[in-house]
Amino acid sequence: MTNEHVKMSQKPNKKWYLRCLPVLVLLLLSSVIYYLFYDRLLSYTGTLESLSSIQSPCSDLLTQKNWERLNINISRQTKLFLKMEDFFWREPTSKFALPYGTKGSELMLLKILSKTTNYQMPANIEGLQCKTCAVIGNGFTIKNSSLGSTINNYDVVIRMNGAPVRGYEDDVGNKTTMTLFYPESASHDTVQQMEPSALVVLVPFKQQDLRWLKEILYNEKRNMKGFWKPPPQIWSADDSNIRVLDPHFLQQTADRLLHIPLDFTKQESVHPTMGILAVFVALNYCDVVHVAGFGYPQSNNPNDPIHYYEDVHTMKSMKNSHHDLKREAATLKRLKDSGAILYLHPHL
Ligand SMILES: *[C@@H]1O[C@H](CO)[C@@H](O)[C@H](O)[C@H]1NC(C)=O
Ligand SMILES: *[C@@H]1O[C@H](CO)[C@@H](O)[C@H](O)[C@H]1NC(C)=O
Ligand SMILES: *[C@@H]1O[C@H](CO)[C@@H](O)[C@H](O)[C@H]1NC(C)=O
Repeated sequence: MTNEHVKMSQKPNKKWYLRCLPVLVLLLLSSVIYYLFYDRLLSYTGTLESLSSIQSPCSDLLTQKNWERLNINISRQTKLFLKMEDFFWREPTSKFALPYGTKGSELMLLKILSKTTNYQMPANIEGLQCKTCAVIGNGFTIKNSSLGSTINNYDVVIRMNGAPVRGYEDDVGNKTTMTLFYPESASHDTVQQMEPSALVVLVPFKQQDLRWLKEILYNEKRNMKGFWKPPPQIWSADDSNIRVLDPHFLQQTADRLLHIPLDFTKQESVHPTMGILAVFVALNYCDVVHVAGFGYPQSNNPNDPIHYYEDVHTMKSMKNSHHDLKREAATLKRLKDSGAILYLHPHL
């Protein structure tokens, strides 16, 4: 082949290439436009996704993930309360005595549970596919938070230790699905303030606690011995709203969540606060767990109040409590950092 031939065959090629150039530029332009549009589209669906996750914040996936994130190697238990069948014509099965088990309390519980007769959560809540829960601690941090209407929007609102609602609705809401208590923290007044459907859930720490409930239920003579603060003698919760929390939850809170010894016989023995217990109960029962009113005053002033509803109790009065507040704070932080719980207000 000559040079001429080569030139001849290249010429039309080059021409074709040049003719195609505008088309190529157009293609390039449109792909840039497409890319930009696609990017927009993506961010749009991204927003939609996050919107829908706010509207229905609990897919099974999320729940399971949150539970696994706890890394505590136990399965969730969604049955919260002791029931008659556990003790009727059954061999006692609990390894522990109160507060971590029912060993030795079977007969007393049989008497109590035969009177209360209902051992479930309300059917309208049980029936929900996804349960959002707010655990409201009694901490001073919730004061002036204006969280009341937010709190009222949860499916389940868990309160504790006879904390009043009336007069504090703007900050703590006025809805109560259940309130956890022990006799020394019970209050006739606050039971009267709650809606008629609210469950009052006894967390029994000692035999006397069960005896107190039995005496109330059967209207027997009150025996006030063995309490560190006199429990109410009049306490008119509706029998059908009374529940007894399965000691399994306190045991697991101590053992698996906090890693504190289960030996309850020593004078100086430590046990979980009602607050951390309520969070653990919620993590078992609920699909989404948000908390408010947790934490103690950060100041070094021992006279700062710790509750939102009174200023009698201060950090000073927590000195001799049988709690490990540092450990609980670290545990709550771990739960928060892992995304298992979310604080409704700024929290240190
Ligand atoms: C989980 O706990 C059980 C005992 O309750 C133990 O036998 C098992 O080894 C634990 N598994 C892990 C992965 O820690
Ligand atoms: C709450 O608000 C009231 C009224 O604005 C104010 O007097 C009080 O100091 C506030 N309390 C806290 C703890 O911020
Ligand atoms: C809570 O407050 C709202 C507004 O005042 C009222 O409509 C509702 O009945 C209250 N709910 C309870 C459980 O008290």
